[in-house]
Amino acid sequence: METVLSGIRPTGNLHLGNYYGAVRSFVKMQYEYNCFFFIADWHSLTTHPTPENIQNSARTILAEYLACGLDPEKATIYVQSDVPETIELYLYLNMNTYIGELGRVTTFKEKARQQPDNVNAGLFTYPTLMAADILQHRATKVPVGKDQEQNMEMARKCARRFNNIYKTELFPEPQNFYFAKEAVKVPGLDGSGKMGKSDGNCIYLCDEPKVIRKKVMKAVTDLGPQTPNSPKPEVIQNLFNFMKIVSAEDTYNYFDEKWNDCTLRYGDMKKQLAEDVVAVIQPIQERINEFATNQQLLDNIARMGAEKARESAAATLREVRKIIGFRVY
Ligand code: ADP
Ligand code: TRP
Repeated sequence: METVLSGIRPTGNLHLGNYYGAVRSFVKMQYEYNCFFFIADWHSLTTHPTPENIQNSARTILAEYLACGLDPEKATIYVQSDVPETIELYLYLNMNTYIGELGRVTTFKEKARQQPDNVNAGLFTYPTLMAADILQHRATKVPVGKDQEQNMEMARKCARRFNNIYKTELFPEPQNFYFAKEAVKVPGLDGSGKMGKSDGNCIYLCDEPKVIRKKVMKAVTDLGPQTPNSPKPEVIQNLFNFMKIVSAEDTYNYFDEKWNDCTLRYGDMKKQLAEDVVAVIQPIQERINEFATNQQLLDNIARMGAEKARESAAATLREVRKIIGFRVY
């Protein structure tokens, strides 16, 4: 069975875009592949978070992913900083990675521009830490977005270079895994094409029903004149796209007909949409609360994940040490 691995940036709460665009696919993958999902808390150190910040965000993320259906019995779910083997591989990979190529990574150049007073070595070697995350489990498929393509290219380069230098085939070259076929794009309700944290137009899985209703009722709609069967303006199309994702097909068709015969009342449609979003989120939210208030359970799940991840990484590291010429105990 192929090994799939993905790192989760511990930044804030999950929104509906993350859920439909990524997390639901992860849940499906865990039944089809040997999956590793981990919270990339070492990577987050590049921006110097406080200890409280680190602990709280790892817990929040873990609770939310579990509530969405990630199953610790099926997938290996762990926290990056619980697996010290990663760091050893990171060191070896750094020895064969050149400052020229790291300096050309666009995410590094962007970050260096954004935080000119904090261009640290961890930021510079972010791609080799990511390569170590992947290669320690000899993962072959990595579900990532477009913004990670260059980091993935570096991971492949690390694998190839190690194999070439030591005349081995230890590391498979990890491939980008696009799961877009099943993933859907969730539009923003502010008239923008996409829901996203940076746009501040998100409905979060932890939003209470009354917050959700308020956000949906505020959705931008077009009040211009309609003619029967006219094409929908973009903001209205967004609303319909949203409905297609969260509502039943009958509901969608009902409002679509209303649009076509010019009898659609946006208020009615938004009210329905709000209830359908609440119906999707409420059960997830209940599970989030169950996990979030059961520290012991979260700790146990994290410990179990760490054990499985360490076992997998240690097996690779034993090979790596042997190949490089170090003692193996
Ligand atoms: P954000 O910063 O808005 O939380 P990220 O860029 O960190 O989003 O994305 C995390 C994951 O969620 C990615 O796999 C991305 O494709 C997915 N995602 C984010 N927003 C959406 C959206 N509106 N529709 C579909 N997928 C999304
Ligand atoms: N860099 C990824 C991001 O910003 C997170 C990440 C860290 C990751 N290590 C990884 C993703 C390994 C995939 C594989 O989203």
